[in-house]
Amino acid sequence: MLRDEACGNITSDDAGREVTLAGWVRRIRNLGGINFIDLWDRTGTVQIKFDPEVSAEVVKTAEKLHIEYVIQVKGRVQKRPKEAINPKVKTGEIEVSAEELRILAECKPLPFMIEDEDATEEMRLKYRYLDLRRPTMQRNIILRHRAIKAIRDYLDEVGFVEVETPILMKSTPEGARDYLVPSRIHKGKFYALPQSPQMYKQLLMIAGYERYFQIARCFRDEDLRADRQPEFTQLDIEMSFVNERDIMTLSEGLMGYVFEDTLDIKLNIPFERITYNEAIARYGTDKPDMRYGLELIDVTDIIANGSADFIRKMKDEGAGFIAITHHRDKNPSRKELDEYERTAKDCGAGGLMQFYISPEGVKGALTRFYTDEQLKQLVEKTGSNDGDLIQIAGGEMPKILEVMGKYRSKLAQKMCLVDKSCEFKFVWITDFPLFELDEEGNITSTHHPFTSPVEEHIEMLETEPLSVVARSYDLVCNGYELGTGSIRISDSDLQRGILKLVGLSDEQIEDRFGFFLKALDYGCPPHGGIALGLDRIIMLMAGEESIRDVIAFPKTLRAVSLMSDEPSEVDEEQLKELGLIVMRDEDEE
Ligand code: AMO
Repeated sequence: MLRDEACGNITSDDAGREVTLAGWVRRIRNLGGINFIDLWDRTGTVQIKFDPEVSAEVVKTAEKLHIEYVIQVKGRVQKRPKEAINPKVKTGEIEVSAEELRILAECKPLPFMIEDEDATEEMRLKYRYLDLRRPTMQRNIILRHRAIKAIRDYLDEVGFVEVETPILMKSTPEGARDYLVPSRIHKGKFYALPQSPQMYKQLLMIAGYERYFQIARCFRDEDLRADRQPEFTQLDIEMSFVNERDIMTLSEGLMGYVFEDTLDIKLNIPFERITYNEAIARYGTDKPDMRYGLELIDVTDIIANGSADFIRKMKDEGAGFIAITHHRDKNPSRKELDEYERTAKDCGAGGLMQFYISPEGVKGALTRFYTDEQLKQLVEKTGSNDGDLIQIAGGEMPKILEVMGKYRSKLAQKMCLVDKSCEFKFVWITDFPLFELDEEGNITSTHHPFTSPVEEHIEMLETEPLSVVARSYDLVCNGYELGTGSIRISDSDLQRGILKLVGLSDEQIEDRFGFFLKALDYGCPPHGGIALGLDRIIMLMAGEESIRDVIAFPKTLRAVSLMSDEPSEVDEEQLKELGLIVMRDEDEE
């Protein structure tokens, strides 16, 4: 080894010891003719002193140093004089007086300072290897490692087996678009990169492994966001002979262990459980942030009976009216009310009806359209008190719930109701509908087509498919969907029927899923599982707002790597070997 000690591990107990260190020059200072540097390695920084009285030659070499040069230093650990002690740094009581110095590598002038938190994301991604040296990124990546280790320890302890599944698999598009890999040997044929190992983990249950997990890389060609990357990592889990409760309990134990082991935080277990319908009614979303109240209240039965023409018209069109109520210290100003309304409109509301509860009664421009009795009912139904502001938007149901769900989170941000340093509020959302309609109005699986319907709804599959409830559950934390799972279909006839219902022809079913349907006929145990988005979990643990900050080499929102410049063109020769001709968009020419 080029060193016998790590920078961040030296303490005053080491005073007098001779150490050899290696690392990066993070800061350079000259105080009264003596040069000091902060030498950094992964464990932390330590101050190195270049004193001409110790070695003039070393001082001469030290004068050549620049930021981020890689050096090796041999020297003696000394206690700092009292006035030079820096209590903010772990090694702040000592310094190392250099006796030998070797420059191991030079470093060009940096595109941004390593400790500069304001560097643009573009620069950070372009020079990711420098960005990854920054303390926050070091902390995040190491936290990720710790969490994965804790996951493996826990699951191993409770009998899970980690199995790797193929990266080159069959294209079975569902949800997002596949990333395809052309085959050279079989020209015109393609592998697909897994969107998730869903079918493989079910096959492993058929194969008798009972408890499987994998830290699985997944690939999806879909619209990207702060919490979505084209390649990401799932903690993928599957279990045999279980029901929903078993998987939720296992997941809670696992999350509890990981949070305690890596962050020393005790989670409140069991997590709250609410149904999908309840989540939509109370929060307007299936991933509610439960760190604050501001619950939605349906006030259609009161508000739709107002005497204004516009309300009558909305009532005739079947509109619903959804209220949110929160406390204001004083009668809100016109300007304030206008601002609320603008925010609601940004969320998709047509307008915002606002009623303020003052000691003299309910106030607001629209009170004249309601009787005292109706206003009293409104106050009662919304549970409002003096000083509360009731805000209501009307519109088509259930769309207006979604609009008010968005408004709810905007309002919470505006009013700083979300404590950023806060606890983690986990909640299970259960009983999702098995199907939903896509943008073209076609039936599609809410989760994926391997999700089992609840037993008592199987008969309704043909007649009322949209009313069928799934045996599925999502894990949500602080407004993020962390994972989804379900009890699976283990009967090939039912599986075939569901694939048909989502619009696949017999041929398509045979072609894409034939192998899987066949396997279901060879002794398939009842089974179910869950996949937790590892990047999102680490993002929350690290207090970050983008999963890019917890992935070593992420892509941008346009799915490119700014560092290594992929996707990139390939040689004509490579295309020829694969039997591919590239058709360019006209505007690209
Ligand atoms: P699903 O598609 O819901 O379920 O994915 C599970 C979890 O993976 C995370 N996730 C993502 N994270 C980052 N970038 C993405 N593009 C991305 N897409 C999904 C989310 C999500 O909750 N096979 C099923 C699970 C199962 O039924 O067991 C599946 O993949 O946190």
